[in-house]
Order: sequence, then C-alpha cells, then structure tokens
Amino acid sequence: MTLAELTVFGEQLGAAAMAALPCTITLSGDLGAGKTTLTRAIGRGYGVVEPVTSPTFALVHEYIARDVRRLFHLDLYRIKGPHELANIGWEMLSTERALLIIEWPDRAGDLVPDDALAITLAHVDDDESRRRVTW
Ligand SMILES: Nc1ncnc2c1ncn2[C@@H]1O[C@H](COP(=O)(O)OP(=O)(O)OP(=O)(O)O)[C@@H](O)[C@H]1O
Ligand SMILES: [Mg+2]
Repeated sequence: MTLAELTVFGEQLGAAAMAALPCTITLSGDLGAGKTTLTRAIGRGYGVVEPVTSPTFALVHEYIARDVRRLFHLDLYRIKGPHELANIGWEMLSTERALLIIEWPDRAGDLVPDDALAITLAHVDDDESRRRVTW
C-alpha cells in the first residue's frame, strides 16, 4: 500500500470499528513500518478530533471521539514484558465504548485479547513509499 492507500484503509477501518466495540487492533512491524501513521488514520475514521501523536514516552494515550467513544493507543516498544503493565489498569482499557490500538503487542503477551484484529506492516524491498499490510 502507498501512504495514500494506507490512509484510506485506516480511516475505513476506524469507521468500521465504531460498530464493533469493544475492539482491539494490534499493529506489528519494524521501526518506521507505519504503525503510528496507521493509528492516526484509524483515529480519524473513528471520529477522534485531536490528532493521535506518537506516544514515545507515555505508555497509554487516551483520546475522546464523538459520542464519548474512547480510543486508547498503547506503544509498548519500551517495555520488557507484561509485568510492566501490572499497574496501568488493563481491564479498563477494553471497556464497552473503547477502541484499543496496541503497537508492539508481543510485549504484552497473554494480555492481548484473543479476538484482537492483528495487523502486520512490513517494508517493501527497494520501495520506501510502499508497505505490505497483512492481517
Ligand atoms: N506506504 C506507507 N505507509 C506508511 N507509512 C509510510 C508509507 N510511505 C512512507 N511512510 C512514512 O513512513 C513513516 C512511518 O513512521 P511511523 O512512525 O508511522 O512508523 P512506526 O511503525 O510507528 O514506527 P515506530 O516503531 O518507531 O513507532 C512515516 O514517516 C510515513 O510518512
Ligand atoms: Mg510508532
């Protein structure tokens, strides 16, 4: 997918998620693969008004969307394992009116819900403008 295609994909996915709450989407892929870029597009489609920024230092970023729906964006790159998530109120993140998007879900181990939509982004050899998107 090009950046434009990935943006449309994300916006449509975010809109679809509104009818499927609670919903968890995991985003796997190397540094720079486009996980945060896709999160922003999903957030727009979901109705988030504030831009979703890359939570490099905060583990959880919370956003309010229209109709008081919530979006929780977790970037787990910096944690070493599920034990570091003991105090973040994990159960609260998968509430009825929330979409949960997790970058680096491997770090959370068994805490990731079984019914999460698992998306993987990968660089394409010799074409920095494209990403392979699988789920
Ligand atoms: N087809 C594409 N899809 C997604 N991103 C693209 C594409 N082409 C170029 N890019 C660029 O690649 C970069 C992806 O960065 P992004 O922060 O989204 O990656 P990330 O997977 O979240 O990385 P990190 O693991 O460091 O958080 C952005 O600068 C984006 O504009
Ligand atoms: Mg990121």
